[in-house]
Amino acid sequence: MAATEEAEELIARAGGDEALLGVLAERRLSGEPLAWVTGRAAFGDLELRVEPGVYVPRWQSLPLARRAAARLPAGGCALDLCTGSGALAASLSAARPRARVVGTDTDPRAVACARSNGVDAVHGDLYAPVPGELHGALDVVVAVVPYVPTPDLALLPRDTLRFEDASHYDGGPDGTDVLRRAVADAPRMLRRGGSLLLEIGGEQAELLEPALARYGFGALDVWADEDGETRGVAAVLG
Ligand SMILES: C[S@@+](CC[C@H](N)C(=O)[O-])C[C@H]1O[C@@H](n2cnc3c(N)ncnc32)[C@H](O)[C@@H]1O
Repeated sequence: MAATEEAEELIARAGGDEALLGVLAERRLSGEPLAWVTGRAAFGDLELRVEPGVYVPRWQSLPLARRAAARLPAGGCALDLCTGSGALAASLSAARPRARVVGTDTDPRAVACARSNGVDAVHGDLYAPVPGELHGALDVVVAVVPYVPTPDLALLPRDTLRFEDASHYDGGPDGTDVLRRAVADAPRMLRRGGSLLLEIGGEQAELLEPALARYGFGALDVWADEDGETRGVAAVLG
């Protein structure tokens, strides 16, 4: 975002209070994420609350959200694993207002933030807190789990890990630790014919393909961004 646009957001957030504007500007100049300073972030057409400490949703996840919505029936059920601010869950609900959409996250700040964005968010590890009546009934599981390979954490923008928790990003040696767990437990949660959609990067499609096949997934769809970088994978439970 251009500096002038950031300044406009800070001015709007301060609402004419010059002392507050000074405090907000100092926070931003220290490198704190703009969304934490203003308390808001856009995700497509949605305007979301983002509390300090909560992962700021990225526009790069919008294609994943759109693909997940396209696979969710009007009155269906979906799960947003690792929901953070609830961005993907909220966009599914916006696209399919009659669907039941649940989000899970291990960070209580994220759960509270997602709830403030209208998401039915529950606290806990991956699928553990999913209500029993949804087991085996989900049409869609979508997730932006931590998937950055540990050695690549050092390559994140300079301020990222000064402010944000590494647990939002760190996916283990090749980035697939949490992705593999998300794949392994998905068949317990999805109905047959339901879809699992994961944000991934690098060579992670090739790394995950054997696990997806082993757990009964087929009809793989791997997509890339305009730079040719792998951004996601979708698969159907057979
Ligand atoms: C990369 S952020 C994605 C947040 C959100 N889906 C988005 O795209 O804006 C990852 C989130 O996963 C959560 N998380 C990390 N490990 C988890 C686990 N084992 N179970 C549930 N949530 C987890 C973190 O707290 C963080 O909110």
